Formats: sequence, structure tokens, C-alpha cells
Amino acid sequence: MKALVLCGGKGTRLRPLTYTLPKQLVPVANRPILHYVMDQIESTGIKDIGVIIAPETGERIKEALSVNPWQFNFTFILQEEPKGLAHAVMVAREFLGDDPFLMYLGDNLIGQSIQGFVEEFRTSRPEALILLKPIPDPRMFGVAEVDRGGNVLRLVEKPKEPPSNLALVGIYLFSPAIHEAISRIKPSFRGELEITDAIQALLDAGKRVRSHVLEGWWLDTGKKDDLLEANRVVLDELVACALEGEVDEQSKVVGRVRLESGAQVERSTVRGPAVIGAGTVIRDSFIGPYTSVGRGCLIEGTALEHSVVLDGARLVNVERLEDSVIGRNAVVAAAKQNSKALRLMIGDDAEVNI
Ligand code: TTP
Repeated sequence: MKALVLCGGKGTRLRPLTYTLPKQLVPVANRPILHYVMDQIESTGIKDIGVIIAPETGERIKEALSVNPWQFNFTFILQEEPKGLAHAVMVAREFLGDDPFLMYLGDNLIGQSIQGFVEEFRTSRPEALILLKPIPDPRMFGVAEVDRGGNVLRLVEKPKEPPSNLALVGIYLFSPAIHEAISRIKPSFRGELEITDAIQALLDAGKRVRSHVLEGWWLDTGKKDDLLEANRVVLDELVACALEGEVDEQSKVVGRVRLESGAQVERSTVRGPAVIGAGTVIRDSFIGPYTSVGRGCLIEGTALEHSVVLDGARLVNVERLEDSVIGRNAVVAAAKQNSKALRLMIGDDAEVNI
């Protein structure tokens, strides 16, 4: 069995971060999302991994996987344009051969091991096994209608009137029958070859498609608020206390905080769960729960909470910042006293709420 991890796409909803960083490498608790994906695949015992990459960001993805603690055999497959998830499978046809495979979207995080699903697929051998998650408003996702036994009856992509509340999670298991199904579908109204349509084509041909409802959380990190939520959940569940950096006597570190090596906390309070990256300086500041600060940052005279700050950013004298994502090397500094004017140098597609 092989795995296909999708790291192409445009990531438009996470601009401006995704102008310089592929969406799959955006950090959650200071680790690229893609590394969590690889941890999951490792637990299944699969070793041969095809990675779909885009021309603009492929090199960054390769670099992020060059340290390979999982000892996977990676094959990088270029998808010239993001023409859809089923198109990505077509592009990977030669790599996949006639093996069954696990397909995993490189920006999806789930809070439960996929080992059991892969085992079930291996033993019960349906043509496809999909993961589903009940969500309040599934209109922006693929939605499944299933019977009581978990057999899939019908799938619809982004329906105006969803037939159920079960959204398709970006993790799928396929037999090689999917290739023939893909060859029969046409691009959707948004011009993409949809994997949902290909699975529906399997159903139309009378093939067996099984489903599993995910019990733990599922986070599709496509937008800013999703990213903050992913950061919150991962910090809550995964971060253990580890203080490798330095904390001076006038500072307080409370709760589960990971302070990476070379990080310094001076005259400040850090209240976990939180992660502070290597070499970062926190001075005269308050870092509240659910905050990840990257490497080589400076946070001075600032109160920060429920936020993700990427490497090299500087926050100086900001009275209170929350629910924010700050890009790499970005600077947020309060104006001099008595000045009401804002002075901004904001990149394309940035969002500032004052
Ligand atoms: P999406 O989030 O559907 O698409 P996107 O990355 O282009 O994002 P946006 O809507 O913000 O512009 O993609 C889901 C995952 O699949 C993501 O990891 C990128 C990947 N993908 C490909 O590898 N090839 C493709 O053709 C598409 C559409 C997505």
C-alpha cells in the first residue's frame, strides 16, 4: 500500500502567509502541519509516499521533508496547476501503479490515529473508504449520505442543501478502481476535477464505498480562524512542559509551556499552554494561553494571547493583541506616545482590525 499526500494548491484563503509559505508548512504549535500528517502516516506502516507539489512551492515542501525521521521513500510529483484533488491522483498515476493507497490532504489535522481506518480498509477491501465528520454547516465541503451500516449512498460537493451534516474529511483510502472512475468525470463548475465526483462515479458503477465517522477533532487549516483553532487544540492536547530556555527571577511561567533552547523570558509572565521558539526573547510582556511564538522573535512590552507568531517577527509595546496571526519577520510596534496616527506597511491581502 502507498500514500499520496497533496501539497499543491494555491492556499488563497491563507494569504498573505501563503505568498511565501506553502499552506502545508504553516506552523501549528511551531511545527509544520505537514509533519503531523507524516506522523499519522508513519503509524500505518506505509513507507512509499508520493507528495504532490506545485511549481511555486515544491522546493519548500522538499526542504521541509529533507529531514526524514520517518524514513519514508518520498517521490515528489509535480502538478503544474491545481486542477483538483482527482487531477492530483491522475498526475500520480505512474507512482501509484495498481496499488491501493491512502490519500491525505497536506493541510488537514485530525485528533485521532488513522491506523484503525487503514486496518479496516485492508481487511474489508471496499473500493473506497472515506472519513466523515459531523459539522453544523457542511455547505462548504463535500457531504455524504450514508446508511446505518456506514455504506455510502451518495456524495455531493459543496451542496446548497446538504443531505446530511457529514462532511468529507481530507483523508481517503482507495483501491485502484478510483483511476477508472476519475477517467469518467468532468471538471466541476469551478473547473476542478473533484474527488467527490470520482467517488460518486464509483457508487454509480455499483462499487462498495464505506465510511467512518471521526470521533475526535478535525481541522482543515485553510483559513486564519481555522489555523488559530488548530493551534489551540494542538497546544491543549500535545504540548508538555519543557523549559529548555532561560527564565529570569522576575518572570513567571505557569502551566504547560514549551520554551525551546536559547529562548529567554525576562520580567514577563507566560501562561500555558504555549510554545516559545528557539532564540526568541520575551521581555516585559504577558504571553497568554494558546499562543505559539516562532523562532528568533522579539516580544517586548506586549500582551499577547490566542495567537500564532511566525519566525523572526517583532511585537513591541502592543498593549493587547489576541486572535492574531503574524507572518514571518513582520513588525508590529505601537506608535510613540500621544500619537494617534497609525503608520502601516502592510503586505498584499493582509488584514488589520483596529
Ligand atoms: P484546497 O484547500 O481545496 O485548495 P487550495 O490549497 O488551493 O486553497 P484555497 O482554497 O485557499 O485557494 O486544497 C486542499 C489540499 O489539497 C491542500 O493541501 C492543497 C491540495 N491540493 C493539491 O495538491 N492539488 C490541487 O489541485 C488542489 C485543488 C489542492
